[in-house]
Amino acid sequence: MPDSLFELPELATLYDLVNPPGSDHQFYLSLADGETPLRVLDVGSGTGMLAVSFAARGHDVTGVEPATGMRGVAVARSGGDTVNWVEETANGFRFDERFDLIVMTGHVFQTFLEDSEIAAVLTNLRDHLADGGRLAFETRNPALREWEQWVPERSREVVEAPGVGSVEIWNQLIASSQRFVAFMTCFRFPDGARRDAPSTLRLMDQLELAEFLSEAGFIDVEWYGNWDRSPLRDDSPELIVVVRKAASRI
Ligand SMILES: C[S@@+](CC[C@H](N)C(=O)[O-])C[C@H]1O[C@@H](n2cnc3c(N)ncnc32)[C@H](O)[C@@H]1O
Repeated sequence: MPDSLFELPELATLYDLVNPPGSDHQFYLSLADGETPLRVLDVGSGTGMLAVSFAARGHDVTGVEPATGMRGVAVARSGGDTVNWVEETANGFRFDERFDLIVMTGHVFQTFLEDSEIAAVLTNLRDHLADGGRLAFETRNPALREWEQWVPERSREVVEAPGVGSVEIWNQLIASSQRFVAFMTCFRFPDGARRDAPSTLRLMDQLELAEFLSEAGFIDVEWYGNWDRSPLRDDSPELIVVVRKAASRI
């Protein structure tokens, strides 16, 4: 069950205001440059901004997203009718189609908490890649301990939501361990109504992620540490993975 942050329409409509498209979108879009049209699968496609951008470049795009609120925003957005939206989870979908590029962006990977779920997701994604197709996703570099900033004093912001007004949003860290971080995203609406949406994310370093990838049959991983394709270093903000499915030999 996706977090209420993504499930509830009144919270999902705020997502793009807090998370405007950035250099991560340019990175993912560039993976499909010059090869039009590709069959692209966006897993955890959220409000659909990136999926629609792929489609606008001529690619054939499917977006898999389990949360009603996020899918509602995606379907209603300008260009929303250019993507095939599917209500499913990353380890639940089954298609006959195979894809040239599968992306999983906005730290969707960190919503898979248990080892068994992570393994099942990576296997499902590999099974849906065409021979020579690529999978790309990212997870936060745990060495930077970004969640220490997820406290009201450092995270509070006010967004202007069309038709709603000024909404105050902040994070409240609840607990962290080597493997997990639990936190709240808190909202105060103009009428004073408050909503607290709990989330838990998985934390993983490069070594552990490389083991999961290898177990799922992915080898020869390209690693990047940031959206400018800089190499992964200890102090990089992201662990970005691009990996190709080897062509099967007959
Ligand atoms: C932080 S948002 C990222 C959305 C989008 N990819 C982006 O870059 O803006 C995380 C998304 O993952 C979705 N999600 C949660 N659990 C999932 C699962 N098991 N399988 C696929 N998507 C999931 C959420 O509903 C949410 O839309």
